[in-house]
Amino acid sequence: MSFYITTAINYVNGVPHLGHAYEAITTDVIARHRRQRGDDVFFLTGTDEHGEPVADAARAEGVEPQELADRNAARFLAMTEQLDISNDYFIRTTDTRHKEIVQEVLQRVHDAGHTYKGIYEGWYCPRCADFKVENEILDGNRCPIHETELVREQEENWFFRLSTFQEPLERLFAERPDFVKPAIRYNEARSFLHSGLEDLSLTRARMTWGVTVPWDPGQVFYVWFDALLNYYTALGYARDGEDLTAHYWPATWHVIGKDILKFHTIFWPAMLMAADIEVPRQVFVHGFLLAADGRKMSKSLGNVLDPFDVLERYGSDALRHYLCREVSFGADGPVGMDAVRARYDSELANEFGNLASRTLNMLERYCDSAVPTAATDPILAADFAGLPERIDEFLERLDLTPALDEIWQRVRRLNRYVEERAPWTLARDDATREELLMVLASLAEGLRVVTLALNPYIPRKTAELLEALGAPITGERTFAGHGSGAAVSAIGPLFPKTAD
Ligand code: MSP
Repeated sequence: MSFYITTAINYVNGVPHLGHAYEAITTDVIARHRRQRGDDVFFLTGTDEHGEPVADAARAEGVEPQELADRNAARFLAMTEQLDISNDYFIRTTDTRHKEIVQEVLQRVHDAGHTYKGIYEGWYCPRCADFKVENEILDGNRCPIHETELVREQEENWFFRLSTFQEPLERLFAERPDFVKPAIRYNEARSFLHSGLEDLSLTRARMTWGVTVPWDPGQVFYVWFDALLNYYTALGYARDGEDLTAHYWPATWHVIGKDILKFHTIFWPAMLMAADIEVPRQVFVHGFLLAADGRKMSKSLGNVLDPFDVLERYGSDALRHYLCREVSFGADGPVGMDAVRARYDSELANEFGNLASRTLNMLERYCDSAVPTAATDPILAADFAGLPERIDEFLERLDLTPALDEIWQRVRRLNRYVEERAPWTLARDDATREELLMVLASLAEGLRVVTLALNPYIPRKTAELLEALGAPITGERTFAGHGSGAAVSAIGPLFPKTAD
């Protein structure tokens, strides 16, 4: 089955922060999980490089926008690599092919009569690159997101007849109650729709940093349309000499944060309908990471958790595990370095890391460094029954926090099993040799199963551990003695204790 998943593309007016890392990590978990299930996955991430925020930031630094974009895009790319993100392509909206395909698609929208020239006047937030509609503006004409003062703007530009898509969009929402997840976001999008759609300004006359409007070269497209189209354009040129569009479009999931809901659930499907392109299957809207004190992270408050700090201290697996486990995917949640450390010590080092090293050590010591060919313990097998199906069910809905909890319960179960069966005692007496082999075969199989299940979440250390267990990374996900007979090798602590 082909499976196409995307993150939002990040603005290059600033450097990567934890919110960007969070979206990349969570989307990567899903992409890796689908590959593990044998799907034909395409995973896209990248950078959004045009528009006011980038032009303004470049101006403030006295450099050309392209220079700023190049510098910051490199940092986003580096973050993607350091987080072990398995994206199949990294799109930049300054790519020549992206710009050409944007022009082709929007020319089609224009030719089909979905645009007209008009005067736009409205309250505009330069940081959002967005005109605000009356009901979202805060007191004192301030931006609902940035809380900074909006500016009154007027210019002649091209409009997109969004209002004519009121009915088609209502039909879309009525026919597809799963179009937007979680349900609370579906309701939010739907109520925005019900409040009535106004036509949208599609181009900018004053801006020059953008994709040129082919039928009116004095203008550039409003950055959001150029940006949204990335999901579609990338398939046209991500692989040299190949067009993947027919294969992967429509996107299976767009993963986005809650602040960009209306762009993805209202404007984007309308634009696609106007261009006669199929709309995406589903949009998942995650929440916001907040500072440990529950407030918005902000440099001026000094409460920012920097992904690069966490990477340096604990590594990418620790950050990935922490974020997926700590903040229920879809909800907002506070995060902080103390909590990263607590989970690292208690869960990764003490629970999973210890389980791995004691299991490998006992296999080395009592079984000549091989998984015994003995039958596995039916009691433990019962505790693992249905695990892959449970995980699949959760991840089908992108519920990656409860899926991880299911896995973690099995990690804990295995540690309890070691305590209950005390293999070191069984090893003292020849009469209990068979029982020892069964216990160790069961432990090894359980460890193999949880490690495979954790692989999408913590890919680096689980790959090392699977290798030490002599188990293929593409192995069976069920508990059924699949690891039987494999040669194992000891490895150092997976998650070494950190210095104080
Ligand atoms: N460039 C637009 C998206 C265009 S997609 C066609 C944009 N960029 S952004 O850099 O501001 O945000 C990128 C993603 O990060 C968005 O999905 C946004 O919601 C998410 N996050 C930004 N801050 C966040 C948190 N504090 N927490 C979680 N995610 C947040 O919007």
